[in-house]
Amino acid sequence: MVDKVDIVVGLAWGDEAKGKVANQLASRRVGGKRYYDFVARWNGGSNAGHTIYIGEDCYKTHIIPCGVFHGIKSIIGPNCVLHPESFYKELDMISNAGFDASLVKVSPNTHIVTDHHIDEDKRTLSKKLGTTSRGIAPAYSAKAARTGLLAKDVLEYDHIWDGNIYGNMLCEGAQGIWLDINKGIYPYVTSSETLPYSACSIGFPTQVIDRIYGAAKIYDTRSGEDPLFPSSLLNDPLLSLVADAGQEFGVTTGRKRKVNWLDLNRLIDAINVSGSTDVIINKCDILQDVEQYRLFYNDETLNFSSITDMTIFVEERIRTMCKFVSTVTFSYSPLFV
Ligand code: IMP
Ligand code: MG
Repeated sequence: MVDKVDIVVGLAWGDEAKGKVANQLASRRVGGKRYYDFVARWNGGSNAGHTIYIGEDCYKTHIIPCGVFHGIKSIIGPNCVLHPESFYKELDMISNAGFDASLVKVSPNTHIVTDHHIDEDKRTLSKKLGTTSRGIAPAYSAKAARTGLLAKDVLEYDHIWDGNIYGNMLCEGAQGIWLDINKGIYPYVTSSETLPYSACSIGFPTQVIDRIYGAAKIYDTRSGEDPLFPSSLLNDPLLSLVADAGQEFGVTTGRKRKVNWLDLNRLIDAINVSGSTDVIINKCDILQDVEQYRLFYNDETLNFSSITDMTIFVEERIRTMCKFVSTVTFSYSPLFV
């Protein structure tokens, strides 16, 4: 039986530097021992793009959890979808870099993304909804229609997880709250559950959940279609400066992301709905680079004179409005690190 579970969740539309947060947590040691025995992904497929720094080296992963970079068993859960060829390619990348790829296991019931699913996504959905073209919606459609293929019937036996969990587990979210198929603005969502409730699909009860780490950014970004996130923002000169300084391009698609000032009411809603106990707000250094400190709150645009003034305001609002939060951390580390 698992002891404690911590969850990393995205508080926006993905791209909140969850990879960085999960990677830092995975490296935790208590009394000289690794704190986590497992790191697991519970949702999505290769639509995710996590940028992970180990020392000076940078790795970009799409489906494999970051535990493998720390010698920790890494599980791809039954509510994920997996494209075998992309998975094997990522495993090769990991073992060529000197990590133990045999730590990575896939749940027997993880659904398979076929080449046909990817073709269908490219042909029908990628333009209409701005999907990542990774076959996500067609694979989850097949799952719901109960016509899908399971990992246990497709992958080699030694890649299949035996279902044992013990000790402590870190669950690494993909995408973010506003892309959750239930909570987001349908159909401008992904096809899986990005909220922490879905992490239990890995096979543990809600009672073992300890911390929920909510990752956000000090400004908002959106990749893919979304009528509520206007495309005109792509041409706003100040926001373009933020986009360039923050290198706001998709890890998976290379597309330029739309950028907007932080919608603080929305962030507060995301913190409350996710039950985040620890909030990490990334990329504060980017606003310092462009010397613009703005956010939206209660239908007003607030303009601060320094990042300190802005973060004091944000923290005060979060502490007042969000009852589960015990820590709020503002991160100024350089790009993606
Ligand atoms: P899909 O998940 O590829 O079907 O894409 C559905 C929507 O979610 C599109 O707007 C994508 O841009 C967005 N999306 C999916 N995965 C990510 C991610 O990891 N980061 C940011 N946006 C994502
Ligand atoms: Mg990403």
